[in-house]
Amino acid sequence: MAGAERSDPRIRAMQADITTLAVDAIVNAANSSLLGGGGVDGAIHRAAGPGLLEECRKLRSLGGCKTGDAKLTGGYNLPAAHVIHTVGPVWQGGGKGEAELLASCYRRCFEIADAQGFTTLAFPAISTGVYGYPWEPAAEIAVAETRAALERHAGIACVTFTLFGEDMLIIYRRLLGEI
Ligand code: APR
Repeated sequence: MAGAERSDPRIRAMQADITTLAVDAIVNAANSSLLGGGGVDGAIHRAAGPGLLEECRKLRSLGGCKTGDAKLTGGYNLPAAHVIHTVGPVWQGGGKGEAELLASCYRRCFEIADAQGFTTLAFPAISTGVYGYPWEPAAEIAVAETRAALERHAGIACVTFTLFGEDMLIIYRRLLGEI
């Protein structure tokens, strides 16, 4: 059972607004246009300012970002130095490859972070808002992919799951073996 696994001190879960974190990169739960939206995407664009949208427009003209992939930008007015924009799957009942696409989001974010030499990263709960992915299986994928990525990418020192509500926090803390 995932919740019975020993907790890894490099992974933590907290209830916070991801736009307030001073880490090497925060992850944005974006859409494939990369031009902003609601939820965490809207909050990140508001806090980062117009420079972020301008850089995202350039990425958009180069093809945007496919579901399951990720793209890097600067952090502009955010306390975080960079933003890794990833596009999670829209939940369609579970039979459309959603789990593999969500796992791919986490893997691509870690690949980019490793290639850039980032040591601190923060993730929101990708796909669990507007995109409707059920919380528990989404959290299981997030935690499993993060544990696997930390085995592969030794330079990453701290991963923070940044969650909006207490119910989501409890799911993560249980999966991390904290409660
Ligand atoms: N900090 C941390 N978490 C947040 C924040 C924030 N500031 N704002 C929202 N959240 C949480 C939500 O509670 C949810 O659990 O982030 C999670 C992801 O929700 P969404 O932002 O709705 O992302 P997602 O489900 O992946 O849908 C992506 O929404 O805004 C659009 O452009 C975005 O079209 C894309 C879609």
